[in-house]
Amino acid sequence: MLQVEQIEDIAVIGAGVMGSGIAQTFAQAGYAVRLQARREDTLRAARDRIAKNQEAVVRAGLLTGTAARDALARIRTTTDLAEAVRGCQFVSESVPEDLNVKHEVFAALDQHAPREVVLSTDTSGLSIGAIAAATTRPEVVVGFHWMNPPHLMPPIEVIRGPRTADAAVDLTCDLARRIGRVPIRVEKDVPGFLWNRLQLALVREALHVVEQGIASPEAVDQAITAGLGLRWAAVGPLRLMDLGGLATFHAIAGYLYRDLSAAQTPKGILADKVAAGETGLRAGRGFYAYPAGSADASIAARDARLFELLKLLRLPAFQGAPLPDAHRSVES
Ligand SMILES: NC(=O)c1ccc[n+]([C@@H]2O[C@H](COP(=O)([O-])OP(=O)(O)OC[C@H]3O[C@@H](n4cnc5c(N)ncnc54)[C@H](O)[C@@H]3O)[C@@H](O)[C@H]2O)c1
Repeated sequence: MLQVEQIEDIAVIGAGVMGSGIAQTFAQAGYAVRLQARREDTLRAARDRIAKNQEAVVRAGLLTGTAARDALARIRTTTDLAEAVRGCQFVSESVPEDLNVKHEVFAALDQHAPREVVLSTDTSGLSIGAIAAATTRPEVVVGFHWMNPPHLMPPIEVIRGPRTADAAVDLTCDLARRIGRVPIRVEKDVPGFLWNRLQLALVREALHVVEQGIASPEAVDQAITAGLGLRWAAVGPLRLMDLGGLATFHAIAGYLYRDLSAAQTPKGILADKVAAGETGLRAGRGFYAYPAGSADASIAARDARLFELLKLLRLPAFQGAPLPDAHRSVES
């Protein structure tokens, strides 16, 4: 297995929302990136998306204009998977969430990628073991689950499949640190990995509270953005219990667990809204109304808030400093 210092060229397979943001992130950290999609127009759209993402990051003072241009120049695009992976030292896959498509791509990676490289997948929830089954080298297949938007979100889950080697998991965690991200190590290939297990547990109770008329969607969102989110950025829920005293949480759990949602299927308000076509921002209505033409402003408002918070977090990848060659200088 390679050492993280030996990685200089990274192949990113799939150039949609995630692949383009992942390519941008690696390039901004100083890596040479080969971004692959099957069609030239996908690759053109990816370049445009990256340039637009970078403009916002530069405006926010998180990246210099020169560093952004240098990073863009480090991304080469190709429609040929074999060419994308030739001589690379790490592969990051972001094709659609369909096991057949993942199999097709991983079988091709098995055929063309150098033997010693990690083959990582950005699957949101497909089994790492099932994806690795398309290869003759399951020991190098690792879940590398980025969050959307990938060029901004600090954590990346690193998931061990049933046959993944320790060295492959360690290398992927090291690489995440090198690009200034926070690797979240997930030791079992379970549905939802870690992030979505935590997120959906909270989502289920948020929906329950709204359905019961206990609080409005606005009140639920405020409780998180003004309170729980702030607290959890300082200390996670398990340390929080240590600080507050386990006996207190034990007592609360004793009477509260039974009152919380234990829904086994997504019925109720979520299913009703989906059935009614109220699927959120792009549809003009979800839990809130989005007047025509306001979608971009809603995304920009979210990103502006994220930029402010990222500045406060002072992560290496978001210091506003030029990033070329950062992978050689950032301590892991
Ligand atoms: N969008 C999200 O919020 C999000 C978040 C985390 C992880 N993911 C995961 O990332 C992966 C990609 O999601 P996305 O949102 O970027 O999807 P997307 O549809 O935006 O992009 C997928 C890209 O893969 C290309 N593609 C399709 N078949 C291909 C093939 N055989 N070879 C090469 N390229 C191919 C498509 O043209 C498209 O450009 C999925 O596994 C998804 O579950 C998505």
